[in-house]
Amino acid sequence: MSLKLNENNIEEIINSMTLEEKAKLVVGIGMPGFFGNPPSRVQGAAGETHSIPRLGIPSTVMADGPAGVRIDPVREGAKTTYHATAFPIASLLSSAWNREIVREVGAAMGREAREYGVDFLLAPALNIHRNPLCGRNFEYYSEDPLLSGEMAKAFVEGVQSEGVGACLKHFIANNQETNRLTIDIIVSERALREIYLKGFEIALKAKPWTVMSAYNKLNGTYCSQNKRILTDILRNEWKFDGFVMTDWFAGNDPVEQMEAGNDLIMPGKVNQIRAEREDEVQEIIKAVKEGNLNEEILDRNVRNILKIIVKTLSFRGYKPSNKPDLEEHAKIAYEAAVEGMVLLKNEDGTLPLNKDSEVALFGTAQIETIKGGTGSGDTHPRYVVSIVNGLMERGFQIDEDLLKTYKDYIKTMRNKEEYKIREGLFGQPVMPKLPEMDLLKDNMVEEAAERTDVGIIVLGRISGEGCDRKPEKGDFYLSDDEQELIDIVSKAYHVRNKRVVVILNVGGPIEVMSWRDKVDAILLAWQAGQEMGRAVADILSGKVNPSGKLPTTFPKDYWDVPSSKNFPGDPPDDPKKVVYEEGIYVGYRYFDTFDVEPAYEFGYGLSYATFNYENLKLEKDESSIRVSFDIVNIGEVPGKEVAQVYVRAPKGEMEKPFQELKGFVKTKLLNPGERERITVSVDIASLTYFNEKTNKWVLEKGIYEIRVGASSRDIRLSGFIDVRN
Ligand code: BGC
Repeated sequence: MSLKLNENNIEEIINSMTLEEKAKLVVGIGMPGFFGNPPSRVQGAAGETHSIPRLGIPSTVMADGPAGVRIDPVREGAKTTYHATAFPIASLLSSAWNREIVREVGAAMGREAREYGVDFLLAPALNIHRNPLCGRNFEYYSEDPLLSGEMAKAFVEGVQSEGVGACLKHFIANNQETNRLTIDIIVSERALREIYLKGFEIALKAKPWTVMSAYNKLNGTYCSQNKRILTDILRNEWKFDGFVMTDWFAGNDPVEQMEAGNDLIMPGKVNQIRAEREDEVQEIIKAVKEGNLNEEILDRNVRNILKIIVKTLSFRGYKPSNKPDLEEHAKIAYEAAVEGMVLLKNEDGTLPLNKDSEVALFGTAQIETIKGGTGSGDTHPRYVVSIVNGLMERGFQIDEDLLKTYKDYIKTMRNKEEYKIREGLFGQPVMPKLPEMDLLKDNMVEEAAERTDVGIIVLGRISGEGCDRKPEKGDFYLSDDEQELIDIVSKAYHVRNKRVVVILNVGGPIEVMSWRDKVDAILLAWQAGQEMGRAVADILSGKVNPSGKLPTTFPKDYWDVPSSKNFPGDPPDDPKKVVYEEGIYVGYRYFDTFDVEPAYEFGYGLSYATFNYENLKLEKDESSIRVSFDIVNIGEVPGKEVAQVYVRAPKGEMEKPFQELKGFVKTKLLNPGERERITVSVDIASLTYFNEKTNKWVLEKGIYEIRVGASSRDIRLSGFIDVRN
């Protein structure tokens, strides 16, 4: 009987594999559908592993990404469509601070992957928001490693509960897009451990099947060729037992990748885009034959891959239905969207709006609503409910004259060459940003303000893979036409004693100081996926009470951010390296420690209800501190609150941030007057700092302050705990 792979015969299989078969197994089959390669059997998927039919090893399929399964929605000659749900971006998901909803989103994506025949979902992405301008921050969760790690962990649990493998990416310090394939990230060991690695360490508890190494170099060595991070830390220290794959076309030495513990090279056959390089399979075979690569290393990597392959749907012979429950998943996308939108300002109860309000909508993003970012994190849903359509569907009276003017304007502009929708990375569409319409014409705003009860301005920003955002007008700062839009609309409504609301349809922070005082309410709606318009409408009407809080600081000015000094690196026009000079002082760790006031701090977000924090109790045992307190809804409507536990360590040998997030909880929906007793357990081990001199985590002995707050700067309860023995 011929030998076929099963869970118990992996060693036997390895022993009977030829060198060529082993080399093939550690290299992908080439990027499907590009560079002359045939499309994947799941068209639009990002990659596939080699099959070895002789030994019963199937090929497995990998598809992006963090906001939904990215595959082609239509296939030539096929009647069936393959749309996947566009979920909200990761920065919105983390704004929900709700592990359960993130787990549900992960599970829904897992089911879609499974039903479309995808074995591995290339998500979650959990790089730290080091700088607000990283073009892919929308795919990432937070500036804080605990929040990032907890969200990623919940996401992995969700995906893998459906039999699909998740992939933690990009390991590590992939915090910018500029020169991402070659940039050298210089970071101290302490910052690496406490800020950049921490989230991955937390997420690994969910046992992801795979990890993707990052494009960049870390302190001089490509991450995919970095034995220290891939083997010493990931495998030996953290006991990761899945396999590591490269990012697509990462690194420059397949043999070093093999030796470093990068088990799989994706998408394979790099010579198709880089002529100077040989086929990776051949390179590996040659290295073994010439004694430059120990075959045992190759065997080790093959073993790591096979141990996971036996768990995959393809190995188990699962027959995908191509019919995921898109109706059900749309509901989950909506639930996540309403949980993660953040109310930034609400003067005198401007929101919620009266349901019969007549509304004038300004800004092109009301119609061209941005569901998510571009590149591999893009999605192809059946539809996207724009903000205007969502508001209309939910019964708001929208000013039709103004709407028609906007529709005509967009149509005319999109016909112009410079604003045409073009093809970006991986054939994903890219939409150049339109300037806002000149509103001074025809008395348009005055008339609209006369006719309607409230003016709503939608401001949009899109960013994506391959390119960072800019500290310029039209990107981090408002453009002149956007400033003018706010000025004109606010004036027209305010002289009539009417209100103005701004909705931010963005993937990351923008400047708000120059304009926020001119408007009455601001809703950070993020890029909320296909259900965006409905979610915005339900928050505006008060059907849903907003409960999101910021996972990332909104600085007053871009140049207040410490990493702005060296982003995107040195030399700035074509950086070769970036020194993370700010060390551990990323996000609120910097703003709080150095007393710099942000526009909106980490953890901030308003509600239509008001919450009291009461009855703090701290208890300590050998391994943890139990922090218990009550949250009471003293408002007039039901709502959920995100309570955050920060810890301030005693002064000691090492310098430390002012405070750090060590736990969080989102309450259930609390009715007016209702109270919930919350308990957050803080592991004492999580209070340690990394001492570079001894290369060890150390616990500073002394009195710790436990700070329970509604945000990092709105601490409601605090107490002290003695950690001296
Ligand atoms: C991205 C990865 C993605 C891969 C496959 C790369 O360009 O950095 O995040 O998973 O492409 O599409």
